[in-house]
Amino acid sequence: MRTTRSLRHRNRLSDPIQEHVDFDETETKVAVAGHPVHAMMVAFPITLAFAAFAADAFYWWTGDLFWPRVAYWAAGVGFVIGVLAGILGTIELLVVPGIRIRSASWTHFILAMMLLSLMGLNWMVRAGDAAAVVLPWGIMLSAVTAGMTGITGWHGGKLVFDYHIGTRNSGHSDAP
Ligand code: HEM
Repeated sequence: MRTTRSLRHRNRLSDPIQEHVDFDETETKVAVAGHPVHAMMVAFPITLAFAAFAADAFYWWTGDLFWPRVAYWAAGVGFVIGVLAGILGTIELLVVPGIRIRSASWTHFILAMMLLSLMGLNWMVRAGDAAAVVLPWGIMLSAVTAGMTGITGWHGGKLVFDYHIGTRNSGHSDAP
């Protein structure tokens, strides 16, 4: 009887990552009143990346020189806030054991690095004559950047809603 039980135990498939003592420790550490600052900040680079693309499209449509200036500032401010959000996200990734241990967090990190490189490039190319670069390369670059923003943002949401990254373990809820 004892032998059968220990055999069954030995044959049970187990995931060494899930069995790690820190696996469920996913609560955010860079937060205001329990809300991750990274999640609050990323709304700005996401919006501004799409705004830069929209401004390029409006310039293509109207020829108004106002729009390349909008695209220049949207790309630049989006990049700077994106880098700041990325720094906070990276602190979270390195400091919180349950975030660090999941491969999905590292996938998000790599996607974000690719996105921030595109955002920086999209800003840099406009530094001289902002209007001259829009057609065709500027608008193509802002389209690719907007697409990459969608992928990275979607994956960030997956971290929170699928893997509960940044959230408090339900066992410790303060809810009445
Ligand atoms: C550079 C490295 C980055 C790292 C290491 C990182 C890490 C994280 C982490 C740990 C979370 C879970 C929430 C939290 O604990 O804060 C998260 C969520 C998220 N991230 Fe990032 N992130 C990075 C950059 C970015 C960038 C550049 C964007 C998009 C512009 C982005 C978009 C998101 C989104 C949309 C969420 C979900 C927020 C929510 O639904 O509450 N991340 N990220």
